[in-house]
Amino acid sequence: MKIKIRNILLLLITANLHHQVNAQSKVDDNVQQARLLVTTFANELKSELSSAMLAGGPINGLEVCKLRAEPIAREVTGSSAWHVARTSSKVRNLNNTPEPWELNILQQFEKRLAEGEDINKLEYSGMQVVKGEMVFRYVKAIPTGGVCLACHGRNVDSAVSQKITELYPNDQATGFSLGDIRGVFSLSKTVDN
Ligand code: HEC
Repeated sequence: MKIKIRNILLLLITANLHHQVNAQSKVDDNVQQARLLVTTFANELKSELSSAMLAGGPINGLEVCKLRAEPIAREVTGSSAWHVARTSSKVRNLNNTPEPWELNILQQFEKRLAEGEDINKLEYSGMQVVKGEMVFRYVKAIPTGGVCLACHGRNVDSAVSQKITELYPNDQATGFSLGDIRGVFSLSKTVDN
């Protein structure tokens, strides 16, 4: 996995060196980079979570989710201009509370899913002005998979549930079913022109 992350960093650097004249192709480049970051981040997180759960069950997995999400995000983005985070309309960690525009995207994704769109294709990209700077934003839906239900499902084991409440007294992130939108990856990158 380390090698894979290094490749991503190389790709991000090369992509930045490649000066694109056309604004549309710049946006496309950013979307490509964002998709790659999401895949790498999601795979790494899932692989650490699965190993931890195999070794010590969901209680052990809780620690990975709590302690590893941010360091893995930093590892994946390296020294690039990207920032990678997760949010949801029902958060476990209040630090992941969505901004109003993210909540709006989450609601649009819910609507598109209800209308029959493939959950794996729910993504958004666009530019925003944040504190006077142009920021490229990318958001992608995170499907609820089978492995997620042990900690986010409708019938969370009581020992796990107890531990969750201990760690997150304001937890809202249970009651999900297979195929629901658990949340989104939310990426941003300051654009220097
Ligand atoms: C072992 C328990 C466990 C499992 C299994 C688990 N999670 Fe979580 N999840 C957590 C914990 C704990 C947090 C809070 C992490 C933090 O403190 O930032 C969390 C946070 C999240 C968040 C960030 C938003 C929020 O609610 O704070 C998302 C999105 C998320 N999980 C998605 C998933 C998905 C998708 C799966 C399945 C692939 C999954 N989780 C499996 C325990 C788990």
